[in-house]
Amino acid sequence: MKEAPVFTIVAAMDEKRAIGFCGRLPWNVPEELAHFRKLTTPGALVMGRRTFEAIGNPLPDRDNFVVSRNMTETAGAVVCRTLSDALSRAAETGKPVYVIGGGEIFRQAFPLASSLEISVIKGVFAGDRFFPAISEAVWNLADETDFGSFVFRRYSRKPDAARVLSGTLRANLHPGMRVSIILKKDQKTGKRTEGMVQRLLTSKPEHTRGIKVMLADGSVGRVQEILES
Ligand SMILES: NC(=O)c1ccc[n+]([C@@H]2O[C@H](COP(=O)([O-])OP(=O)(O)OC[C@H]3O[C@@H](n4cnc5c(N)ncnc54)[C@H](OP(=O)(O)O)[C@@H]3O)[C@@H](O)[C@H]2O)c1
Repeated sequence: MKEAPVFTIVAAMDEKRAIGFCGRLPWNVPEELAHFRKLTTPGALVMGRRTFEAIGNPLPDRDNFVVSRNMTETAGAVVCRTLSDALSRAAETGKPVYVIGGGEIFRQAFPLASSLEISVIKGVFAGDRFFPAISEAVWNLADETDFGSFVFRRYSRKPDAARVLSGTLRANLHPGMRVSIILKKDQKTGKRTEGMVQRLLTSKPEHTRGIKVMLADGSVGRVQEILES
């Protein structure tokens, strides 16, 4: 069976989970847009047709995949008829895959995502599109940084019970899990890099400690230590 593509949802919401109003963002926070650009470049972006039209152009330095039942071809973006086709085609680029909205697409992608990168804009704004509730039972808060006008939170999906109960360390390795790795280039110095497991490149259970992982930035290393299980 074909494995489901691994992807991250990137969203900005207010304190009541509003993400949009009248086809636009409810706020004007340029530093959060700069943060979004940094986070998703380079990457393969999956978005709904309304979000693509609201942005007004393909996002530069990233691959753009637009989900639409009706839209015809458009310059600078690949149009896909289903979300799952968009996710597969985005994954084929070999770049980290980010689902970037809007409301309809978040709702469908949320149950399938491995990780969430959420900016919570401080305050409450008028909204007509909302992000789903993030349950502590399902999501593990891995990181939190206060940027002044917004708080950035990174979540990884908790490994599901069935996988943990299977007993092997390999089974505990979840694609959205944070790991500490020593990249090949840093093996002499022992410098550690933290990140999400994006894609397991080899997966023999007896070699778990040597499993190669690809981080969000595309760099490849081997798992040295599982930080969370
Ligand atoms: N705060 C944030 O992080 C954030 C991020 C992005 C967007 N937004 C906001 O969210 C709002 C837009 O969200 P939205 O919910 O209105 O629209 P959307 O999710 O961006 O796009 C909806 C469109 O996607 C297509 N679509 C959805 N599911 C599909 C499926 N399963 N198969 C094929 N096509 C599918 C349909 O396009 P067709 O009608 O062409 O078939 C549908 O009309 C705006 O206000 C925007 O500013 C906020």
